[in-house]
Amino acid sequence: MRRALVAGNWKMNGSRTAVSVLVDRLLSGIGDRETTEVAVCPPFPYLGMVAELLAGSGVALGGQNMCEVGGAGAYTGEVSAEMLRDLGCQYVILGHSERRTLYGETDQMVARKFDVASTAGLEAIVCVGELLDERQSGRTEQVVARQLDAILGSQAGVDGLANAVIAYEPVWAIGTGMTATPEQAQQVHAFIRQRIAAHNPQIAGGLRILYGGSVKAANAAELFGQPDIDGGLIGGAALQAEEFLAICRAAHTGR
Ligand code: PGA
Repeated sequence: MRRALVAGNWKMNGSRTAVSVLVDRLLSGIGDRETTEVAVCPPFPYLGMVAELLAGSGVALGGQNMCEVGGAGAYTGEVSAEMLRDLGCQYVILGHSERRTLYGETDQMVARKFDVASTAGLEAIVCVGELLDERQSGRTEQVVARQLDAILGSQAGVDGLANAVIAYEPVWAIGTGMTATPEQAQQVHAFIRQRIAAHNPQIAGGLRILYGGSVKAANAAELFGQPDIDGGLIGGAALQAEEFLAICRAAHTGR
C-alpha cells in the first residue's frame, strides 16, 4: 500500500517569528503518523531554521524549487539540489504552476531539474496540471500527458519516478477556492498512473500521486478517499496549523 503524503507548500510567506510559531503548533498537534507522511516546504531563507526545529520529529523538509544545474558555480540567485540536501531536505517541489506561468519554466526545464534532483538524492514532487481554458476545451489529458512525457523522456526517466512523487494540481483550482471534485481529480490521477504504467507498471503502482488545489479540512477526506489519490500538496491551508493538521488527519483516516 502506498503511504499517504501531505506536503505543505508555504510559498513566499513567513517571517522568523511566524515560521517558528507555525512549526511549534504543528509539532504540538501532530499525532500518530504511521500511515501518513508529513512534509513542509518553507521559503529558502527559513530552511535551516525549520530543519533545526523539526529535528527528530519525523516531519520531512522540502524546497519549493531549485536550480536546473547541479553542483556549484556562477548562477547568481540560484539554489542547488546539493544545498537543499545539505540543509536536510528530503523533497523538492518542481514545476509548480506558479514557476511555469510566472517564471517561464518549460517542460524541458522541469525535466532537467528532475534529473538533477534524482542525481542528488532528492525526491522530486513534480507538479502537473491544466489551465482553465485547457480543461474547458477538453485538453486536460493532453496537457498532463505532455508534462509527464517530458519527465519520462528525461535521463532519469521512469526509473527516477521510483523515488519521486507527482502532484496533480489543476491550475484553476490553485488558491482560488475552486477544488476539483473527487471524481474529476480521480479521473486525472488514474490517467497519470496508467501513462506511467505503460513504461513500468511496478513503478506506477508504487508511485504517490498527490492532489493540490484549494485542499482544506472540509474537502480533504473525500479527495483522499479516492483510490488513486495518495495525499495532497497544500498551499494556503498549510499556513494555518489547525487546518493543516486536520488535513493530515484526513489522510490518515481517509484511506
Ligand atoms: P492552494 O495551493 O492549496 O492554496 O490552492 C496549492 C499549491 O499551489 O500547491
